[in-house]
Amino acid sequence: MKIALTAISILLSTILLSQPGIKLLESGKRVSIRGLSVVNDQIVWASGSNGSVARSVDGGTSWSWTVVPGYEKRDFRDIEAFDENTAVIMGVAEPGIILQTKDGGKTWRKVYEDTTRGMFLDAMDFGSAQKGIVIGDPIGDKVYLASSEDNGDSWKKMEHGKNFPEIPAREGEAFFASSGTNVQWVGKHPIIVSGGKSSRIFWKKQWTDLPIMQGKESTGANSIAVYDNRYSVVVGGDFTKDTIRSQNCVLVTLKPTLRLRQPVTSPHGYRSCVIFLTKNKLLTCGTSGIDLSEDGGNNWTLISRESFHVCQKAKNGTAVFLAGGNGRIAKLIE
Ligand SMILES: *[C@@H]1O[C@H](CO)[C@@H](O)[C@H](O)[C@H]1NC(C)=O
Ligand SMILES: *[C@@H]1O[C@H](CO)[C@@H](O)[C@H](O)[C@H]1NC(C)=O
Ligand SMILES: *[C@@H]1O[C@H](CO)[C@@H](O)[C@H](O)[C@H]1NC(C)=O
Repeated sequence: MKIALTAISILLSTILLSQPGIKLLESGKRVSIRGLSVVNDQIVWASGSNGSVARSVDGGTSWSWTVVPGYEKRDFRDIEAFDENTAVIMGVAEPGIILQTKDGGKTWRKVYEDTTRGMFLDAMDFGSAQKGIVIGDPIGDKVYLASSEDNGDSWKKMEHGKNFPEIPAREGEAFFASSGTNVQWVGKHPIIVSGGKSSRIFWKKQWTDLPIMQGKESTGANSIAVYDNRYSVVVGGDFTKDTIRSQNCVLVTLKPTLRLRQPVTSPHGYRSCVIFLTKNKLLTCGTSGIDLSEDGGNNWTLISRESFHVCQKAKNGTAVFLAGGNGRIAKLIE
């Protein structure tokens, strides 16, 4: 009864105030999903624990799940899909691996592996000219990076000081593998946010401290979104105290010089992923809910208390999907 009334009141407030909300599309396969890639309004891919990959080719109405043979125990924390048939997935922990499918997930080929002890890949991003980048936790004090020039067909480790500047990490500084979004291409340059004992932003060969929660293994920046190579928003917090409403978001201007400031109204808790829907409209999600901003990240409104790890907008289209624990996948309804 209580649940029915809550459902009715949510439905009414959605209709009356036409507030954005979410529609749950899929749940039941009890795996944790952190990888999400939305090709267009019809084609959506997701990846997660227990070697699982899900794909929909009808805008999220139906999903087909697969477990990648031989990788049943791996956690695929990030995925990038290029079309209905082609995608790459990244496995965390040892060994570091990236797999690729060209037949819609029926078969997978290993396109990268690093068996170095201490490997922990965190996130991938693909930019223009088929450029890919993957970031991993520092080994020693060296941030781990590998890159691709062919949309993930092949990868090469990036050598500090040779084809990448030296970017030493601080003691206890690492990267979260919470949503695959803490590294992004901005034109030809990657932008990176770190977390842990220190939380910083790496941009144009320099680290800058972020005014965000830090100092513990569970704190720091989890995600960065960039609009028009200029406006940027970082979210994070403390995933073990996911309702703290301060020091969980930083607004970043990249040009002409890097400028950082905090929003007027922060998101309502720890957030693991942030995306731009338009220049001024942004969505952020985490285990304690979903917030929307309609003023470029200055003020955030809680639109749902549902837990999600990752949100993504169609690369070519307008659909927005979210995914999280227990195999949950949802769509944003505006
Ligand atoms: C995932 O793997 C864990 C441990 O290997 C197992 O306990 C769990 O039942 C698996 N979940 C699913 C949905 O297969
Ligand atoms: C953000 O919210 C504050 C307080 O409600 C308000 O004064 C301010 O105008 C808002 N900022 C923008 C850019 O709308
Ligand atoms: C984007 O989608 C439209 C409509 O489906 C299609 O015509 C166009 O070719 C797509 N663009 C790209 C770059 O894939």
